[in-house]
Amino acid sequence: MKLTWFGHSCVLLQGSKNVLIDPFVPDGAVDAEPDVVAVTHGHSDHMGNAASYGVTVVAINEVAKYLRTKGVDAEAMNIGGTIEVKGVRITMTPALHSAWIEEAGIGCNGGCAAGFVIRMDNKAVYHAGDTALFSDMSLIGELYHPDLALLPIGGRFTMGPEEAMVAARFIGAPLVIPIHYNTWPPIVQDPSAFKQALERTTDCRVCILAPGESTTL
Ligand code: NI
Ligand code: MN
Repeated sequence: MKLTWFGHSCVLLQGSKNVLIDPFVPDGAVDAEPDVVAVTHGHSDHMGNAASYGVTVVAINEVAKYLRTKGVDAEAMNIGGTIEVKGVRITMTPALHSAWIEEAGIGCNGGCAAGFVIRMDNKAVYHAGDTALFSDMSLIGELYHPDLALLPIGGRFTMGPEEAMVAARFIGAPLVIPIHYNTWPPIVQDPSAFKQALERTTDCRVCILAPGESTTL
């Protein structure tokens, strides 16, 4: 499976299907050809241009209902559940974060924020979405044994590097890719310090990608 990080929280998984998660980049639309799009929550820096691909968008009930009003083929689900779309198994995990849908003027209720475990081609990828650290992340490790954890490290709106180190230990994935940092000044972080600290204290390997860069699982 090939993984491309477009920046911020936006990741494209390319295996037997193309799965695009949180299609937002700060400078325009995300150029990808997904078979399915997954949106962790209704904040504009995650929903991005999810409605523009003409493919199924998976999101929590409230976000899915909102997207349907825009003509999107949205598949609703909720935390703890799993759906299969085009052979890709998508499990919605908890996230500790707010979730107002921001793009509709004053906005509307987006349910709650979430993360995803995406299972395809015998690989499991955990995308934490925007979240604080929570100890039930250990259940995500126990249940789904992710091969990779995509963890926010930007701080202020999500966990920072210190909390993400504990998250990585709870999840136990052999590979961690930091996301949701350096997009804007309030979430500037040094990913190499995070990498050094995590690799010094655990068996996790940290892969730092530049926006647009890919790696293979
Ligand atoms: Ni958010
Ligand atoms: Mn965010």
